Amino acid sequence: MSLKGKHIVLGISGGIAAYKSAYLLRLLIKKGAEVQVVITPNGKEFITPATLAALSGKPVVSEFFAANTGEWHSHVDLGLWADLMIVAPATASTIGKMANGIADNMLITTYLSAKEQVMVAPAMDLDMWAHPSTQRNVATLRRDGVIIVEPQSGFLASGLTGKGRMEEPERIVEEAERYFASLESAQTMKGMKVLISAGPTYENIDPVRFIGNYSSGKMGFAIANECKRRGAEVTMVAGPVDPRLELAAGVTRVNVRSAREMLQAMQQEFADCNVAVLAAAVADYAPADALDHKIKREERGDFALHLVKNPDIAATLGAEKGDRKLVGFALETDNESVNAMHKMERKNLDMIVLNSLRDSGAGMMTDTNKVTIFFADGVQKEYPLKDKKEVAADIADSISQLFVSR
Ligand code: CTP
Repeated sequence: MSLKGKHIVLGISGGIAAYKSAYLLRLLIKKGAEVQVVITPNGKEFITPATLAALSGKPVVSEFFAANTGEWHSHVDLGLWADLMIVAPATASTIGKMANGIADNMLITTYLSAKEQVMVAPAMDLDMWAHPSTQRNVATLRRDGVIIVEPQSGFLASGLTGKGRMEEPERIVEEAERYFASLESAQTMKGMKVLISAGPTYENIDPVRFIGNYSSGKMGFAIANECKRRGAEVTMVAGPVDPRLELAAGVTRVNVRSAREMLQAMQQEFADCNVAVLAAAVADYAPADALDHKIKREERGDFALHLVKNPDIAATLGAEKGDRKLVGFALETDNESVNAMHKMERKNLDMIVLNSLRDSGAGMMTDTNKVTIFFADGVQKEYPLKDKKEVAADIADSISQLFVSR
């Protein structure tokens, strides 16, 4: 497989196997990858940055600041740039720092900023590899999603065998190729355009007050990121969601505030999508007239707020959907299944995801969710309580099924 156009950060730490990194770098370049080398201060004792710069065609990054200009090297930019980060050789010390977030050099800060896959090729003495401390740190990295390229076997001084020698560069390249191939085969939504709404809407009472709800946007954002990971082109129309939520690189984001603004943005984007997922908790009512000045306490006694019905975004899109697919959500407290199925029919949806507020751990302001998915043709799927990211994968599977004729 060619690695053409792939951005790879090659992290080199201070082990004797660092001499093999020059060869690894050459193999990656030959496969068409663009490689940026990041080396630890100890790494430079084993291989010179000059060699690596010549092979990669890029200045090697090592210090936080460039020696000649004082310019700050941004590990964040590098972390964003990388499609894959390979740390080879990874010493016991570097593995320990990675596992524990000890960010005292550029390699570790880059690792902590890396958005995509990280792969580690350990290299150390056999007894160091076997030490419980190293094994614990390796296990931590595995749990954090890092691919470990198992070191090779060798003989201990005692004559027993053990592992520790860095895997050969050819094998590390194969691992990288396998990773990229698995990404491609996971692109089950390639060519699909997905529009998603998420979060609450805020309906202004006056310039400083609003009617809103507790929706965080977490579920919608998880679905957006999952669809993006599967290769879809994704547009997110977001209400005022939790500002800590992150969208995968490449997802288009449109920010809105009120239900009316959301409707307008959704209608505009709907024209150009294959499926819309309505994960937003849209306010059903808004104050009839939002005041343009702050309501003053002295000016009024008790008063009633006159509310008018907001447009139903799902139903509006449902009425004009043509051959596009529409996925809605239902948050119910009682008579859940019947209510959800009615909602699906009333709004002309193809699929509806029900979360019952009766289930603990489901619904708003949680990291987990428990859903039942109903399809317009009567099929129904019930899932156990899961992390919202895993629920997003189940929902993405079901969205894909909408495009398979049954
Ligand atoms: N929805 C919408 N526009 C609205 C209200 C809801 O698009 N004004 C969408 C939601 O994004 C969700 C689905 O419709 O996908 C169901 O939302 P829900 O609030 O459960 O439905 P309502 O029609 O508001 O019914 P209820 O009386 O239960 O609140």
